[in-house]
Amino acid sequence: MKTKHLIDLEALSTEELMEIIALANDIRENPAAYAERCRGKILATLFYEPSTRTQMSFKTAMLRLGGSVIGFDNPQNSSVAKGESLKDTITVVGGYADIIAIRHSMEGTAKAASLYSAAPVINAGDGGHLHPTQTLTDVVTLYNEKGTLDNMCIGLCGDLKNGRTVHSLIKTMSHFKGNRFVLISTPELTVPQYIKDVMNASGCRYTEVSSLAEAIPMLDVLYMTRIQRERFKNYEEYEKQRGVFVLDREKMLRARPDMKILHPLPRVDEIAEDVDYDSRAKYFVQTVYGMYARMALIIKMLENADGKPMARKLSTHHIRCTNPNCITYTEEYLPHLFRPLGGDMVLCQYCEGRNLI
Ligand code: CP
Repeated sequence: MKTKHLIDLEALSTEELMEIIALANDIRENPAAYAERCRGKILATLFYEPSTRTQMSFKTAMLRLGGSVIGFDNPQNSSVAKGESLKDTITVVGGYADIIAIRHSMEGTAKAASLYSAAPVINAGDGGHLHPTQTLTDVVTLYNEKGTLDNMCIGLCGDLKNGRTVHSLIKTMSHFKGNRFVLISTPELTVPQYIKDVMNASGCRYTEVSSLAEAIPMLDVLYMTRIQRERFKNYEEYEKQRGVFVLDREKMLRARPDMKILHPLPRVDEIAEDVDYDSRAKYFVQTVYGMYARMALIIKMLENADGKPMARKLSTHHIRCTNPNCITYTEEYLPHLFRPLGGDMVLCQYCEGRNLI
């Protein structure tokens, strides 16, 4: 792997992604061969936001590789509660650990952390932006359960606006041949513009629809997501959206016999419990694939670690990102970094928000 940090899977070539899938499958088949692979190495899990799967699968992955784990899952039990900045926390932890997995509610946090860390940083979810290791989980699942990552009709249903797993998955699957997307949501929760830009740039076909029952017969994969309550301004807005899309046995009667159901979990009410017993439901086995995917990722990233922090001071743009969920809003010392988009538009390098110069 050429990249030091994993902020977005776009940093990996398709070949590198396929190598991780192959390694994950080899670890799954021969776990004993990898039991000492990371002996003496330390993973830090810095979870500023709640998690069951991502945090525990990262920890289990490192322990199964013979390494050790430090970190926090509640920032109130760390010096964050005393007002410590992200930069200072990362600078310190990057001196203790060999690799860091970080989750935070603000978009672009992993990118910001990577500017100050001697150790490789893995984005374990940054607000409603991206979740690349969930996508590794998803592609390992799809590759094993469908036998291919090409030529699929992929339905994504639920909170496509705030669902970071949706954004990462679309980005990655857009690079594989012949995939098309059916985006099933209410008009308020459609995918952000930067994800439409990705699909347009890659030439992937997509349609936006509002009926799961009508879309389901055409799908090879259905990726269900929960409505992300924690991203809504108030409970009333969330209440308007919850319960609109529910996958149940009746809808499954309309689905192809080989359609696979994925879900990043946690589930709230968007998949009825009795669908769990349908052989097409893959969301629990998906969590196990995720552990092997993270084992493979840790191995690959540690092979590449150089121990050097980004010491140089980055020059800062004269404008600042207008996205109120961008990490630059709360960590004000961060340099303002943008990529030109053409015309008078630039893209924030932390949160991918579009900004006018
Ligand atoms: N899929 C996922 O990110 O789950 P957790 O929030 O439990 O980590």
